[in-house]
Amino acid sequence: MDNRPQWGTRAGFILAAIGSAVGLGNIWRFPATAYDNGGGAFFLPYLFALLTAGIPLLILEFTMGHKYRGSAPLSYSRMRKGTEWIGWWQVGVAFVISTYYAVIIAWAMSYTAFSFNLKWGEDTGGFLMSTYLNRVDLAGGEIGQLGSLVPGVLIPLIIVWVVTLGVLFAGVKKGIERANKIFIPTLLVLFLIIVVRALTLEGAAEGLNAFFKPNWDTIMDGKVWVAAYGQIFFSLSIAFAIMITYSSYLPKKSDITNNAFITGFANSSFELLAGIGVFSILGFMAAQQNLPVDEVVSAGVGLAFVVFPEIINSFPAFREFFGFLFFGSLVLAGLSSLISIVETFVAGVQDKFGVSRTKAVIFGGGLSAILSLVFATQGGLFFLDAADYFINSFGVALSGLIQVIAVAWFAKELKNLQNHADSISDIKLGSWWRISLGVITPIVLGYMMFDNLRQNLTSDYEGYPREFLFNWGWGVALGAIFVGVLFTLKKWHRSEEVSSNKEVSH
Ligand code: ALA
Repeated sequence: MDNRPQWGTRAGFILAAIGSAVGLGNIWRFPATAYDNGGGAFFLPYLFALLTAGIPLLILEFTMGHKYRGSAPLSYSRMRKGTEWIGWWQVGVAFVISTYYAVIIAWAMSYTAFSFNLKWGEDTGGFLMSTYLNRVDLAGGEIGQLGSLVPGVLIPLIIVWVVTLGVLFAGVKKGIERANKIFIPTLLVLFLIIVVRALTLEGAAEGLNAFFKPNWDTIMDGKVWVAAYGQIFFSLSIAFAIMITYSSYLPKKSDITNNAFITGFANSSFELLAGIGVFSILGFMAAQQNLPVDEVVSAGVGLAFVVFPEIINSFPAFREFFGFLFFGSLVLAGLSSLISIVETFVAGVQDKFGVSRTKAVIFGGGLSAILSLVFATQGGLFFLDAADYFINSFGVALSGLIQVIAVAWFAKELKNLQNHADSISDIKLGSWWRISLGVITPIVLGYMMFDNLRQNLTSDYEGYPREFLFNWGWGVALGAIFVGVLFTLKKWHRSEEVSSNKEVSH
């Protein structure tokens, strides 16, 4: 029907989907979130969220993209008029994430270079915060002030954007597919070397014990559950428009459910692998310092950039090499995900305004690149922490909740989507899928969201100043909803005729 681009091969699509899923979320965010939420206590809610929400939602998004063949907002709109705003909201969330995600990749790029001479020295925390980031509060300012741009972050950030936008200019098959075919196998090899090494370190078993042992005291805390859902959604790239966009480039004859399982399990295996690697290494560190595992680190966004260099310092041999492997994998994993995050708004802008890919990349990607400068300033770390926390709790997880309610209860589309997926997939979906999405996820996530909202309204995240949280936490999360509604008001370009619940021919 139209000339929508398509993936070249099934493997190309799967690699791109895995490339999107496996990212900073698996390596940088996961250990920090697990720590913030009680270490081992996190594992059970995480597994529950994966099986009842993560994988079912991934199947849902693949089906929506394949059936309605549009960017997220266009697919929602074709499914049921009145839900388009959810698609834009999720695109807005992706946009916010792209702005700080690029900066973390930039840090990782710097640290890959620092590995060559272990430039971070002995005091890795001091190095990150003062020497490298020149953090505003340590340089005489206050939390909430931007300070000036940090050249050490700015330069790699420019490289990150040049690579990402360059791949996107080249298109779906020649750009995204090709990049992932190189990035993902390389990443796997690098990471396997690290994990095998980690597992053979002294103290690894204690670390793993801390990771897998459930902590029943914190398990009823809504905050922990929302964090688990947020982590699963972030890690699987669901509820922020990505997987709908990627599957809209699938050819008519494509498997959906099997592809979703492959993607979901590949991502979780990688995350589990990363978890095992990270906690073995923490166990090693605890053994070195003669401390229990849960006392060796302080949590936070800097975890990967403080604890890892410290651990690498204490490796018996090949320290530079392991530093290079670790931060190099962070860069590769991050880039393949950033490409998919930016593609959501490139596709949305193209569909809505009928402009070329080149223009959409320049406009959408360019705007994100400019805004990402905020996080490359001396105050950037605090802005990043607030934006990341709020956009995940009240952007990704909340929009995922609204998404399942809209599809299951408002549009009543679960059965139709199941039929669509079943008509082309090897694995047939059972009622477990509809129950997970229509009942379990709305109830569990709905209750937890409520509890978490209550907690955040009564206490200030990380004790940050209230005005700062209002602008950069709540403001950013609510801003994404506002943008969603705003874009919905604009009519579709005439090439995208929107009629509700109509499957789109390929
Ligand atoms: N899914 C991507 C990640 O885990 C966004 O980082």
